[in-house]
Amino acid sequence: MVSLPRDLLSKLTGEVADGLPSFCLERWQSLHETVARINLSESGVYPLTLAELRDYGVDLESLGSLELGYGWTRGSPELREAISELYGGAVPPENIVVTAGSAEANLVTVLSLVRENDVVLVDMPNYMQVVGLLRWVGAEVVYIWRQPPDWRFPLQKALELVSTLRPKALFVNDPNNPTGSYMTHREIEELVLEASRLGTTLVFDEVYWGTERGEPKVSVVQASERGDLISVSGLSKTYGLPGLRIGWVAASSRRISELAWSVKDYTSIAPSVLSDKIASLILKRDVVAKLRDRARRVVEENMRVFLAEISGKELFEPYPAKSGAFIWVRVPWVEDTLGLAYTIYKQRGVLLVPGECFEMRGYMRIGLGMKPEHFRVGLRELVESMDSLKKELTAEGR
Ligand SMILES: Cc1ncc(COP(=O)(O)O)c(C=O)c1O
Repeated sequence: MVSLPRDLLSKLTGEVADGLPSFCLERWQSLHETVARINLSESGVYPLTLAELRDYGVDLESLGSLELGYGWTRGSPELREAISELYGGAVPPENIVVTAGSAEANLVTVLSLVRENDVVLVDMPNYMQVVGLLRWVGAEVVYIWRQPPDWRFPLQKALELVSTLRPKALFVNDPNNPTGSYMTHREIEELVLEASRLGTTLVFDEVYWGTERGEPKVSVVQASERGDLISVSGLSKTYGLPGLRIGWVAASSRRISELAWSVKDYTSIAPSVLSDKIASLILKRDVVAKLRDRARRVVEENMRVFLAEISGKELFEPYPAKSGAFIWVRVPWVEDTLGLAYTIYKQRGVLLVPGECFEMRGYMRIGLGMKPEHFRVGLRELVESMDSLKKELTAEGR
């Protein structure tokens, strides 16, 4: 295996600033994704072009006369209305704040809600943005770990911790990145009931909502009219539009959404007016349905190809899940998956995400959102590379 440069290790696992941990996954991507020959590290479905949006019935004619001003700082009324409809009206447009991706939505949510020494629960494994931010503000972070083989949200454990620790908030990532597992309507209802009784705010990062290839997911804000509930989501993953940088906070409480809007004055002021306009054209019911369908078809096809290609090779233990645009796998023959991912990247130019970025050594996340014809080629390279590395390591260990 290629040895990992020391400075890379510290960039991935050290600190950005006093108390702010490096964001391993995003640093790994930022350093490698534009150079990689084959990028299997993405968690969303491959991006659409503006021209392709026309084929989905999006009329972009009106963009020509758009004034490129600051626009509406919490998102235009049209866009907030369209987002409200995604939630079946469960959150009114006034309680929605449009942000630069769901990344900014997570940032303003944490800054609005959490203070030093607050106890907070976090669903693990996790994308880790929220965890890093919570540590930065000085919260006391308690992990709730999902377990193999199905990686379901451990509801009983969560209920127990909510009632014993009385946390300020519980942060869930549902559908979960990296495992692709998602909660049932009943599970969410039960969690909301207990959290609202005890005054714990539920924050669900639902950026993969709409990728479900089973029972459709219900958002946390649709599950009940009680309690402080927040849904963070956006257009990057399911809709294949990360370049628009459109996300949002949808809060059941007006107070929280006003706070998030005020925090946003410090971060980005307003969403790009161009992206706001395009997003409001995309979030029409029929376009949403078509784009969600596109996402499911791409992932289903790549999942089928992936499982067929690895069958009988004993390179991975796969955990095929029913949502997300990726697959979570264990690599039973090596512990150091960061070293393995780096070696595959250096030798073949194939990029995946090592489990270490989710605090889970021995695992990897492989993107299933690529164009199927490119995915097949990338997968073959990956399998060849893993195969020869496994042989090399086994020979060394003999
Ligand atoms: C769970 C989760 N939340 C938020 C984000 C940020 O996405 P964006 O800012 O592009 O919406 C990601 C990106 O990978 C993610 O996986």
